[in-house]
Amino acid sequence: STDPLVIFTPSGKRGRFPVGTPILTAARQLGVDLDSVCGGRGICSKCQITPSYGEFPKHGVTVQADALSEWNAVEERYKSKRGLIDGRRLGCQAQVQGDVVIDVPPESQVHKQVVRKRAEARDITLNPSVHLHYVEVAEPDMHDPSGDLERLREALKAQWGLEGFEVSLPVLSRLQKALRKGEWKATCVIHKAPGSPVRLLDVHPGLYEGPLYGLAVDLGSTTIAAHLCDLATGEVVASSGVMNPQIRFGEDLMSRVSYSMMNAGGDAEMTAAVREGMNQLFADIAAEAGITEAQIVDAVFVCNPVMHHLFLGIDPYELGQAPFALATSEALRLSARDLGLTRLHPEARAYLLPCIAGHVGADAAAVALSEAPDKSEDLVLVVDVGTNAEILLGNREKVLACSSPTGPAFEGAQISSGQRAAPGAIERVQIDPVTKEPRFRVIGSDLWSDEEGFAASIATTGITGICGSGIIEMVAEMRMAGIVDAPGLIGSPEQTGTDRCFLDGRTYSYLVWDGSAEGGPVITVTNRDIREIQMAKAALYSGARLLMDKFGVDSVDRIVLAGAFGAHISPKHAMVLGMIPDCELAKVTSAGNAAGTGARIALLNTEARSEIEETVRRIHKIETAIEPRFQEHFVNASAIPNAVEPFPVLAR
Ligand code: FES
Repeated sequence: STDPLVIFTPSGKRGRFPVGTPILTAARQLGVDLDSVCGGRGICSKCQITPSYGEFPKHGVTVQADALSEWNAVEERYKSKRGLIDGRRLGCQAQVQGDVVIDVPPESQVHKQVVRKRAEARDITLNPSVHLHYVEVAEPDMHDPSGDLERLREALKAQWGLEGFEVSLPVLSRLQKALRKGEWKATCVIHKAPGSPVRLLDVHPGLYEGPLYGLAVDLGSTTIAAHLCDLATGEVVASSGVMNPQIRFGEDLMSRVSYSMMNAGGDAEMTAAVREGMNQLFADIAAEAGITEAQIVDAVFVCNPVMHHLFLGIDPYELGQAPFALATSEALRLSARDLGLTRLHPEARAYLLPCIAGHVGADAAAVALSEAPDKSEDLVLVVDVGTNAEILLGNREKVLACSSPTGPAFEGAQISSGQRAAPGAIERVQIDPVTKEPRFRVIGSDLWSDEEGFAASIATTGITGICGSGIIEMVAEMRMAGIVDAPGLIGSPEQTGTDRCFLDGRTYSYLVWDGSAEGGPVITVTNRDIREIQMAKAALYSGARLLMDKFGVDSVDRIVLAGAFGAHISPKHAMVLGMIPDCELAKVTSAGNAAGTGARIALLNTEARSEIEETVRRIHKIETAIEPRFQEHFVNASAIPNAVEPFPVLAR
């Protein structure tokens, strides 16, 4: 054919089209990702493209200056009213005249890539659940009586190929006014995601260009954290967190389950508390971003099974006892309003990721979505460290999962000088193997405790305690300096050669910092603290080891530490402690809050929702409580680093 050749970049898609074909039409026929809200009417400018002129030996074409049609009236009007960047054209108006190379800039792509900072992380392809569709609706006619909704349906079908949609009564009740106000032009806010019927969330008179926002929420037992994302760009526009108000019913999950067992209506109280906390958080985050909450139309939630049930308003009773049956492990597609989230857009949708099993929740599914062990060539161990450790082990062949009850020691709880990570907390530690003297850093200062100016740098915060990552380094350093032996006993002053070890009841403790002269705390590590850490790390290690048994391997290729706290753990110290199996240190990486990232992926890409649902169906769940080998591993793993397992990496 002698029709002109149209080549799109960056996709490289090409095809021949008759003279006069609009670029938007060519793009659609070739499956090129070119956005449009107004359906080619020259009013939304989402379809902007950049034609290139000159010689293109790579593509084998020469583009003449008249390869596209002259500016027409619609395009001229848009440019004079709203402006267009030099060199840009509206793809729906510019027509093919000769061979042409067309660049689609990122902002004109529907499925643009959302950048993630980590090199090994999967990219997010934008494919949100909510889209805007501008339509022109036929006016009612005495001779052809039909309802406004029916004519809107016809318009959406003819102009956008949308076959039917559901509509709520409140939206329906606004329809007639909106259509007349917009003079039979309207923008429909359409929710479309796999597994849900297409839904009309709102009708705006005339052209409405948004913005539309979504929330990715990580509902933890201690904190609730949310990212507010612009659904058109994928950008995080604000992030915020609050303490989970359920803490007043119990610090850890099991105490909340028992609260609900022991108090009639206790579960309802906790449901109300978490929903209230969430509404407050959403108000804060919207205020921070300078938007109204009504612009938030979608929300994705990840959480552990107990939080999952309490958030949904389901009594977590069954999760407190074997066989730990969930009410459902399916992904849930709900209305945000039904979850008590009354401040968002009244038709806002909510999506909860699937749970993996009674003890392995939607948070673990979100970690799996973010870290994608099921797509990994090499065998990867993913550990989400928190009050419960969620552990995934796998590669493309299969993925195993379990959860292990590490308890709150890694968060600084149940440690004599322990505290949450906050200014004033010791977070980094080194102990001189000869003098046994500690040096450390506290959150809020960039200086080590023996550096010039340290005292001044902590003048406002003081030194208040040891946080979770600090206690891990502390115990590992004590072990390396010979202050603690492999079974976990702190030595006497004679054995260790330092007065920092002192008799404290029936065992010895190690003095880290004496701030009593300035009215501050005396910070010590007691033998009980060491025990707590031993139990926590043994639980984590034996969970991982059990999955390795089930997989039939003695080593893993790489380890990913996830969780807000995982981001701060030093891989070397974690290994000295025997928290994680032996692995090349360079192959131990931190994923930060991977569960939160998984929530963001599911928010921004609806296909990822079906993907993780499918992956979760294929994950094998291992219940640590009924595995005899778990106990065996646990006993061996309480020694530091381990009574029987070798750590060749540490021997080097
Ligand atoms: Fe809306 Fe071109 S598609 S301006």
